[in-house]
Amino acid sequence: MIQVKNMVIKFGSEAVLSNINLVLPENKTCAIIGPSGCGKTTLLYTLAGLLTPSEGQVIINGKNIRSIRKDTGVILQNTGLLPWKTAWDNVSLGLSARKQDRVAINQKVASILDELGILEHKHKFPAQLSGGQRQRVAIARTLVLEPDLLLMDEPSSALDAINREHIQNMILKIYKKKPATLVLVTHNIEEAVFLGETIIVMKRSAVKHIIENPFFGDENIRLKSDYYKICLEVRKWLSEDDSQ
Ligand SMILES: Nc1ncnc2c1ncn2[C@@H]1O[C@H](COP(=O)(O)OP(=O)(O)O)[C@@H](O)[C@H]1O
Ligand SMILES: [Mg+2]
Repeated sequence: MIQVKNMVIKFGSEAVLSNINLVLPENKTCAIIGPSGCGKTTLLYTLAGLLTPSEGQVIINGKNIRSIRKDTGVILQNTGLLPWKTAWDNVSLGLSARKQDRVAINQKVASILDELGILEHKHKFPAQLSGGQRQRVAIARTLVLEPDLLLMDEPSSALDAINREHIQNMILKIYKKKPATLVLVTHNIEEAVFLGETIIVMKRSAVKHIIENPFFGDENIRLKSDYYKICLEVRKWLSEDDSQ
């Protein structure tokens, strides 16, 4: 479980996040949505332990987080793949660094690349892959380490609509097969409703509203009107900000 208590993040004298309080249950998914600049990435970095709160606390499984945890996996907006390494080597790097047995590494890397549909591209370098394939390699590289907390910053924002849905479907499939706590930042309403069991709507530096999404987990939800009802509710909370 993740608890954020009275958390403030300041850059200089400006509070980029002010008094955030959240409880995110273990092995559930949560989508954080809000306009550009409202502090989504900053919140995710703080959950990752990459930023230390100016005030308040982030507590994960009872421990106050002050630096990155071994079992937290982070997928940032820029995929951060090493351009001089192949897809395979990018994915196996973390396991090699953890001194895992070579046979086990090969088996795990092959299995995750296969699951993400990119095994046939294993010898390609990032520049030889499409945007969607690169994003899958970035996801594979993180998932292969079997994190118990997975943090994603706009995983599909660089992709066209078709590839965006492919990646979203894949994230849902992987989550359902092996649940871990998933926190996903997005500015896309449909992505938030497809992948968030809880949807946190942010406005400038604060949490504005929290929506529970009873339809989460249904891979065919995009064909159902209930999905659009929740999308409209999120849209309403996002747009209400202007009048205040
Ligand atoms: N390292 C930093 N130093 C100063 N200001 C920052 C820094 N990182 C982010 N900010 C500011 O904090 C605010 C929130 O940024 P960010 O969390 O990236 O927003 P979002 O991801 O929602 O678009 C923005 O106004 C941004 O300019
Ligand atoms: Mg951001």
